[in-house]
Amino acid sequence: MLRNRLSLFIAIGTIILSSCQKNSSPTSVIGPLGDSAMVASAHPLSTQIGLQVLREGGNAFDAAVATHFALAVVYPRAGNVGGGGFALYRMKDGEIGSLDFREKAPARASRDMFLDEQGNIVDRLSIIGHKAAGVPGSVDGILKLYDQFGTKSLRELLAPAIDLATSGYAITQDQADEYNAKRDDFIQVNGPDFFLVKNEPWQEGDTVKYTELAGTLALIRDQGRSGFYEGIVADQIVKEMESGGGLISLDDLSGYSSKWRDPIVGNYRGYKVISMPPPSSGGVALLQLLQGSEKYDIPAMGHNTPETIHILTELERRVYADRATHLGDPDYYDVPVQMLLDPAYNKKRFSTIQKDKKTDSQDVKEGEVDIIESVQTTHFSIVDTYGNAVAITTTLNSYFGCKVYVDGAGFFLNNEMDDFSSKPGVPNQFGLIGDDANAIVPNKRMLSSMTPTIVEKDGNLKMVLGTPGGSTIITSVFQTIMNVVDHEMGMQEAVNANRTHSQWLPDRILIEERWTDGETIKKLEQLGHVIEYRKALGKMDCILLRADSTLEGGADYTRGDNYAEGF
Ligand code: GLY
Repeated sequence: MLRNRLSLFIAIGTIILSSCQKNSSPTSVIGPLGDSAMVASAHPLSTQIGLQVLREGGNAFDAAVATHFALAVVYPRAGNVGGGGFALYRMKDGEIGSLDFREKAPARASRDMFLDEQGNIVDRLSIIGHKAAGVPGSVDGILKLYDQFGTKSLRELLAPAIDLATSGYAITQDQADEYNAKRDDFIQVNGPDFFLVKNEPWQEGDTVKYTELAGTLALIRDQGRSGFYEGIVADQIVKEMESGGGLISLDDLSGYSSKWRDPIVGNYRGYKVISMPPPSSGGVALLQLLQGSEKYDIPAMGHNTPETIHILTELERRVYADRATHLGDPDYYDVPVQMLLDPAYNKKRFSTIQKDKKTDSQDVKEGEVDIIESVQTTHFSIVDTYGNAVAITTTLNSYFGCKVYVDGAGFFLNNEMDDFSSKPGVPNQFGLIGDDANAIVPNKRMLSSMTPTIVEKDGNLKMVLGTPGGSTIITSVFQTIMNVVDHEMGMQEAVNANRTHSQWLPDRILIEERWTDGETIKKLEQLGHVIEYRKALGKMDCILLRADSTLEGGADYTRGDNYAEGF
């Protein structure tokens, strides 16, 4: 039945997306409502595929499987089988858990693998090409989640993704722009005959088929994880590695295993906040930020006023400095989670913040870099008719990962090795500095900022949140929670609101280009801040349980093709 409805989805998906994008004002809007279920994801087709599973009695985990594999087809810049990520869930009875399916360094990786003989970082070696790829975790993770909680057959859940990959679908303007922007990289890595390279620019409405990927998805459907980590696909990945100096071996693939981890839990103004533990820095940093912000009367200070932005920035600078020093893969480094979440520690840590002046920073050193490309990852949030909630953030890291498209298997590999600290003190593509905690070690997981988050109020589900955005993920989730809790916004309004970001180094505040309030910028500059503009910060996909028990979706349609729908 899913299959029969697919062409209808494709048609209505395009119509709904364009009408959503014409919504009059980015603020004061109410997102789509649902009485009992909701999906929010990066593309209308993946949302509608997940929603159809829920309509047919599937639970949130079934819908997550269908949505995840659909994203690999309709959102290939970040949706993936060649990447990794994190899943956070809350069952209808309040039980919570998280699954870490982050990529790992190949066994043949080494601490200095991205340095030249003089010990300097080799430009872009950790970003583009075969060496940049970590051992993919997504297929293992999504199937582990399915094995534990799924109720429908994999045949049913993968059918829509396989059909879309086989028949093709019409790309959006945003996707056309992406294919065009990455043309040179595609040629550099995959050659001039690569199927996403055309003589004429890609245009909205062009059809793209991922026929090789359909074959890989069919193997996963029929054989489960061994359809990807062993046999034909594993051979294709290793052959691809051998052709370009990559390190991933058959043993790396067959040995990959995702891990259940205890979520990070804290409180914010009477709400319980549940998020991802290391090797994501997301949960720890989010809860540190919320602890800091709770000490201020943010509602009285106002939304996006200079006073509020200044305080958030000062908190963020300190938390990201902690992140750089203390966070890494807990299986390889003793991450001081307890210390970082200790209210006494944070009280002291934030005690140097002044309301009327940017703190002088001894820590701002040389080596600042700009974010050299837009930050890509993707997140989806699901609430099912039974009351279960799932938040999944998954990534290839950069747009289309390391740009290597596995020949014959039809998917992009991640460039997650860049999320390690290649050299202590030297920033990665997000400008993030790292230390020993996040140095490259064989089989270790690289530090992440992905922050799938679930919020409870009075023992009930309240929000499901997450976003892409590299280092800006944490601050986007932080501000969106505050928008609802402190500024009493609905979900869509909270998502639409302008966002800022700062992260200690580079020492600046990022502001979205659409920001028009020059007075605020001027006041921030008077406080000593340096302002830089970015096209957009994050692409949130969130769900809110409203006071009347209906669900409100908040998808970032003003920043991307994101789309929420409920029933
Ligand atoms: N690759 C982005 C992140 O994991 O934070």
